[in-house]
Amino acid sequence: MTQDELKLAVARAARDYVADSLPIGAILGVGTGSTANFFIDQLATIKDRLGGTVASSEATAQRLAGHGMRVLDLNDVEAMGIYVDGADEIDHGMAMIKGGGGALTREKIVAAVADTFVCICDGSKRVAVMGRFPLPVEVIPMSRAYVARELAKLGGTPRLREGFVTDNGNLILDVHGLSITDPAGLESRINEIVGVVTNGLFARRGADVLLLAMPDGVQIFKR
Ligand code: A5P
Repeated sequence: MTQDELKLAVARAARDYVADSLPIGAILGVGTGSTANFFIDQLATIKDRLGGTVASSEATAQRLAGHGMRVLDLNDVEAMGIYVDGADEIDHGMAMIKGGGGALTREKIVAAVADTFVCICDGSKRVAVMGRFPLPVEVIPMSRAYVARELAKLGGTPRLREGFVTDNGNLILDVHGLSITDPAGLESRINEIVGVVTNGLFARRGADVLLLAMPDGVQIFKR
């Protein structure tokens, strides 16, 4: 199977999960990235069941609206049953690295509101120890050099994502060379650096459900 076929398979499984688990008329959070895009296209087939959606990026909002789905402001939403999103890496404790697409801050905010985080990805994303994928850190532009020096003290090699500005008007430092054996501890430590908006470790609020596309079918893991 190609990676796109795996993404399509897990997107269909996520659509079925939402159709089975989310009460009719409830609000769904929708993530960002290529796997999330497959999911959005599948979601269109059950859009009449949804009360509305909340998008984790401008790109996702546009794609949802393009399918005729209602996109709500998170501030107008009191409760969200499920948030569905991809990941760049996920470990066996359901902690993730996210932000390869640069939407980590909004993803983390929407995920914080949701009762259940459903992670969708193909088998290549599941790892024993995270860090091979560079860890994205969103920073306020004037703090870029300072934060980079502080991240280097933690053992990583930060590189500015050239020519990229987040939906929030900030920059991304991608931190290479980390071996993340304590995801929750590192997530907190990086958040303490002044100038950091968010980092791409989703450990303190990890996934609750993982739908993992393998060549022989989609496997389900629960926290
Ligand atoms: C977006 O900022 C990311 O967090 C994505 O969820 C993550 O990069 C996975 O993207 P793909 O589905 O494109 O691999």
